Amino acid sequence: MSAGAAPRILLVGAGAVGQVYGRHLQLGGAEVSFLVRPQYAATVRRGFDLFPLRKRGRRDAVRFQDFTVLTETAAVAAQRWDAVLLCVPSPALHQGSWLAELCAASGDASIVTLQPGLTDHARVCAVAGAERVVAGMIGLMAYTAPLPGEAGEAGAGPGTAYWFPPLGKCPFSGAPARVRPLVALLRAGGFPAACARDVPAQLAFGVALLDPHMVALEVAGFSLRGLRADRALLARAAAASREATMITAAFRGVRAPRLRGALERAGVRVLLAMLPRLAPLDVEGFFRAHYTKVAGQTRALLATYRAEAAARGLPTPALTALSAALEARS
Ligand SMILES: NC(=O)c1ccc[n+]([C@@H]2O[C@H](COP(=O)([O-])OP(=O)(O)OC[C@H]3O[C@@H](n4cnc5c(N)ncnc54)[C@H](OP(=O)(O)O)[C@@H]3O)[C@@H](O)[C@H]2O)c1
Repeated sequence: MSAGAAPRILLVGAGAVGQVYGRHLQLGGAEVSFLVRPQYAATVRRGFDLFPLRKRGRRDAVRFQDFTVLTETAAVAAQRWDAVLLCVPSPALHQGSWLAELCAASGDASIVTLQPGLTDHARVCAVAGAERVVAGMIGLMAYTAPLPGEAGEAGAGPGTAYWFPPLGKCPFSGAPARVRPLVALLRAGGFPAACARDVPAQLAFGVALLDPHMVALEVAGFSLRGLRADRALLARAAAASREATMITAAFRGVRAPRLRGALERAGVRVLLAMLPRLAPLDVEGFFRAHYTKVAGQTRALLATYRAEAAARGLPTPALTALSAALEARS
């Protein structure tokens, strides 16, 4: 980032994640801009009410405004940027030519990818050039509040509520000269960012572990109790998670991490049981709202696992069965 001047950060997409990263970057001292679809520009220009959730009962809104809103790549090219954060769902990275145009328009700015898809990091590297790319992992829950049934005293909103799980970090990796200033800026803004060695691997194996369980939760009608009670569905999620891990290892040309196994999958089940007690929000309601919103992304992630497995002759009976169960629900 340029010495002296305030870092200039462009966030693509002003949804839940874009708003939270944008607010903390601004708090850290950055000049923040959003690139949004034209139909959202007027709403985004009005600014946001955000609800950082700390513990149950406290629901104070903070105002997030004083940023610039762009709707055209040509306007991006007219300015200097230190970093561009891609805060869009995974399928958007693979659609159209906007990403290539954006990378060309943003000079030498770091391109920060946060998406969970197996091929997303490689896609952004192919378009932007690997040297420019910083990978980040989103360790927070952010949503449009109030969630249905959460209105009134117990719920945050109207606005965007978000929660950082205690002890959790949002890691970034890439060229140190790009990662360190970004992490420092976010940390200065009260965001739990951290430098890490290899976020793409961490994220890919984390998603392989977690995502099949989230698909199973969707199949169970977003009922945590229903999922816990359905041993066959849980077993299928665990088997799908093993398959996704093997596909991820093959895709990345590495061995599957040794710890990945029954212990970790049991850990996911414990986490799903504990989360509603730890989180100051309606966790089931969050999962329902979030995974309904990103339904296209969930299906794209499953399709990518199956396509990458097919290309390598790897079996996917559990992922196929889970996909079929998801489609049967839709
Ligand atoms: N929210 C969370 O708690 C959370 C946690 C972990 C990970 N994530 C991940 O973070 C990503 C973003 O999630 P989110 O919750 O912020 O989703 P979101 O609220 O739907 O925000 C994404 C925004 O990006 C916009 N967009 C899509 N393509 C665009 C493009 N080419 N140019 C400009 N804007 C574009 C979308 O508009 P349209 O809706 O019109 O397409 C939408 O407004 C997803 O991959 C999600 O899985 C989110």
